[in-house]
Amino acid sequence: MKVVTHIRELKELIRMNQRKQHSVGFVPTMGFLHEGHLQLAKEAREQNDVVVMSIFVNPLQFGPNEDFESYPRDIKRDQCLAEAIGVDILFTPDVKEMYKEKPSVTVSVQKRTDVLCGKKRPGHFDGVATVLTKLFHLVEPTKVYFGLKDAQQVAVIDAMMEDFFFDIQLVSVPTVREEDGLAKSSRNVYLSEAERQEAPTLFQALKRGQTAVENGERDPKRVHQLIEKELLKTSGEIDYIGIYSYPHLEPLQSLAGQVIIAIAVKFSKARLIDNVIFHVPESGEKHV
Ligand code: PAF
Repeated sequence: MKVVTHIRELKELIRMNQRKQHSVGFVPTMGFLHEGHLQLAKEAREQNDVVVMSIFVNPLQFGPNEDFESYPRDIKRDQCLAEAIGVDILFTPDVKEMYKEKPSVTVSVQKRTDVLCGKKRPGHFDGVATVLTKLFHLVEPTKVYFGLKDAQQVAVIDAMMEDFFFDIQLVSVPTVREEDGLAKSSRNVYLSEAERQEAPTLFQALKRGQTAVENGERDPKRVHQLIEKELLKTSGEIDYIGIYSYPHLEPLQSLAGQVIIAIAVKFSKARLIDNVIFHVPESGEKHV
């Protein structure tokens, strides 16, 4: 595995692979790798000649009172994990390499951001879209891999690819979970022991909502109430419970089509997000 920190070096390696007409699978990350990231890299390994992973904690996607400084970092451990899973090129630029001076141009996302994390974290998805635009231009991948735990991020990137004519295939990979259902996340290390015990309630609450819909409930308000009741059993503070169409993230009067139920809960030092995405038959459409 080649570890590169400079853009010039990365471009040389990319050019070399392009001359060999190699397909490139790209896994952008902010590091502190867990099994969710490794699943993305594994799929990229299986589907491409070359696998590029980036590790860059992107300051542009953190708000002023968010955890940019304290975001967990362990580059040595990440390098070992990336190499073991079969990454060929690990790109680990520093902030100055990616943002040389006050930027002249940034990307501003216009749709799919007025709900869920986009509403709670103003500017977050502009930061994500800006850094990914830069990374996509640098890596020029054939396929790019994202986890569905950040389903709103996947929806935003999907729209960005279309609007900006990126000729890259987006591969969205299901959330990887602990045995008790907790979605794997770099931020889970910040849960206290007691909070860690409570955290599986997030997924249980989502499943409770999904089961109610599968049993015929179509009123999003009633599904919201069921989920809220479950989440109130934890010591965490509910940041949001959202039920929308997916990937458009529009409100629904009655649940039908592809639906996302997404939640965010703030514990003392970690804000956890999770979601379920599933198909609700339109009236008249047969259950399968
Ligand atoms: O999902 C993440 O880790 C980040 O938002 C991403 C896509 C690497 C952009 O910084």
